[in-house]
Amino acid sequence: MANLIRRFTIVALLLALGADAQSCSRSMSPSYPAPVVAEGYAAQLIISGLTKPRSILFDTKGALLVVESGVGITHITLQDDGNTCIGMGNTTTLVDNKELNHGIDLSQDGKTLYASTESEVFSWTYDPVAATASNPRTLINGMSTSGHSTRTLLLSKKQPDILLVSQGSAANIDPQATDMRTGISQIRSFNLTELKGKRIYNYTDGTVLGWGLRNSVGVAEEPITGGIFSVENSADQVTRKGVDIHENNPGEEMNFHGFLNGTMTIQSANHGYPGCLAVWGTDIPDVGNMTVGWQFSHDASSDVNDDLCMLMFTPPRLTFQAHTAPLDIKFNPNGTLAYVSFHGSWNRDDPAGYMLSVIAFANGEPTEPRTSITAAVPILSNQDPSACPGNCFRPVGLAFDSQERLFMTSDSTGEIYVVVRTSADGSGVPSNNGGSSDQGGGNNGGGGGIGNENAATTGAVVPRSYESLLLVGVTLTLSLVGGAFFAVG
Ligand SMILES: *[C@@H]1O[C@H](CO)[C@@H](O)[C@H](O)[C@H]1NC(C)=O
Ligand SMILES: *[C@@H]1O[C@H](CO)[C@@H](O)[C@H](O)[C@H]1NC(C)=O
Ligand SMILES: *[C@@H]1O[C@H](CO)[C@@H](O)[C@H](O)[C@H]1NC(C)=O
Ligand SMILES: *[C@@H]1O[C@H](CO)[C@@H](O)[C@H](O)[C@H]1NC(C)=O
Ligand SMILES: *[C@@H]1O[C@H](CO)[C@@H](O)[C@H](O)[C@H]1NC(C)=O
Ligand SMILES: *[C@@H]1O[C@H](CO)[C@@H](O)[C@H](O)[C@H]1NC(C)=O
Repeated sequence: MANLIRRFTIVALLLALGADAQSCSRSMSPSYPAPVVAEGYAAQLIISGLTKPRSILFDTKGALLVVESGVGITHITLQDDGNTCIGMGNTTTLVDNKELNHGIDLSQDGKTLYASTESEVFSWTYDPVAATASNPRTLINGMSTSGHSTRTLLLSKKQPDILLVSQGSAANIDPQATDMRTGISQIRSFNLTELKGKRIYNYTDGTVLGWGLRNSVGVAEEPITGGIFSVENSADQVTRKGVDIHENNPGEEMNFHGFLNGTMTIQSANHGYPGCLAVWGTDIPDVGNMTVGWQFSHDASSDVNDDLCMLMFTPPRLTFQAHTAPLDIKFNPNGTLAYVSFHGSWNRDDPAGYMLSVIAFANGEPTEPRTSITAAVPILSNQDPSACPGNCFRPVGLAFDSQERLFMTSDSTGEIYVVVRTSADGSGVPSNNGGSSDQGGGNNGGGGGIGNENAATTGAVVPRSYESLLLVGVTLTLSLVGGAFFAVG
């Protein structure tokens, strides 16, 4: 038996060596120090020379569609020799529109293309064989034209007529976000089947899936349960009780928004921005019993204090190092792993982020508790973060191809990487050496279950600027009574 195992091991080793020795004729290297790749993974730079590549996806013929911000949508075929040995084939401009800047998605049949500018969402009839997009149509307008400009799009796979659109704030601390009617700092859902004729939705016609979300650029649907998760870029330059706490606070967030199938428990929750932000570093004035992931008030909070932050708002499901700027989240097909791209910080003395990380999921939820500081485990990182952003890659868009290879854009360098697992064994989450956190000890909180997930019914004294929280309750009740998920006028 032992002999057999030894023989298997040797054969496996030989196979692995063979694969390594088989050199790839087109391997490219970056102009900056090569990325550090976690154990169990391999990565290769495969495309360069693009202009600010942001979100990407694969069409039904295996071509990559890339949003080049300020250019349009580019169709790229791949020369694929397997594994990470991939090169760029032919490049075609699919949509020539300089206003397109981030969002893109395709219908499940692969024949309708969606993309967004700062103020509008468009669709086209897409032909993957001819590589053409025709019949442009405006679906949504009326989005803000100041501040955060990306509008992430996500078509649900579970409810194929539902399009989610995320809109961030117009300022760092934006008071408009306290009024639900503004549409600021929200994710809204739109039923495309109801868009008949030439009708166009105003963004504020959409149903609120979540609000109080400063700028939730990454939005994803867990593939098994259909749960909607987003990753948020939280506030800069924050002070509390007169003390500058911005280096390690507030934490970036992963929030949960419930399901699109009519189970309304968490949908329409307010997640606290701008008054309440998540604790990352616990070295802040009057931290009291708060730990990682609890929401605190800060010097620019009007009308709320720490107690109201806990009572009224839904806390993040996970919190990440401050200012790391998560921009995309993609689940593997069986929902055991969520990959998150961290674009990297500007509002920090020590640059942080600038990496692709992975988060373990089980049964539709992260396996780590809300208070974890180690949930995001680095997969692809820059060698010398202190050289960032200048001499580094900056992760943005993620997409799996049909072979479960993960593709990642870097907008600042105009590049695309491919990332593969080198072994089917293991969880896909490398053992974390504490690398994702630069905090010392003293931060290990207990289990989950902080805050209040049903803010509208606490009976707390509600400050006037949050009166529309009460509206949520009314809207929810109405749409449930009507038996309809969407209140479309
Ligand atoms: C690129 O286009 C040429 C000419 O149409 C075609 O022969 C070739 O197969 C294409 N290459 C790829 C990788 O799509
Ligand atoms: C969208 O609706 C808002 C109010 O909800 C309104 O101020 C704005 O003018 C509308 N935009 C368009 C393009 O209709
Ligand atoms: C979308 O609208 C259509 C037409 O009104 C309706 O049949 C369908 O159930 C709606 N989808 C959802 C998920 O509510
Ligand atoms: C919606 O999906 C969730 C997760 O899969 C499930 O627990 C729930 O029962 C579903 N609700 C309905 C009304 O089908
Ligand atoms: C945290 O402390 C505050 C103020 O002392 C108290 O009101 C609250 O109940 C405490 N929360 C928990 C979960 O212990
Ligand atoms: C889920 O898929 C991954 C590959 O992405 C695989 O390694 C893992 O074993 C699968 N897990 C389950 C529970 O199916």
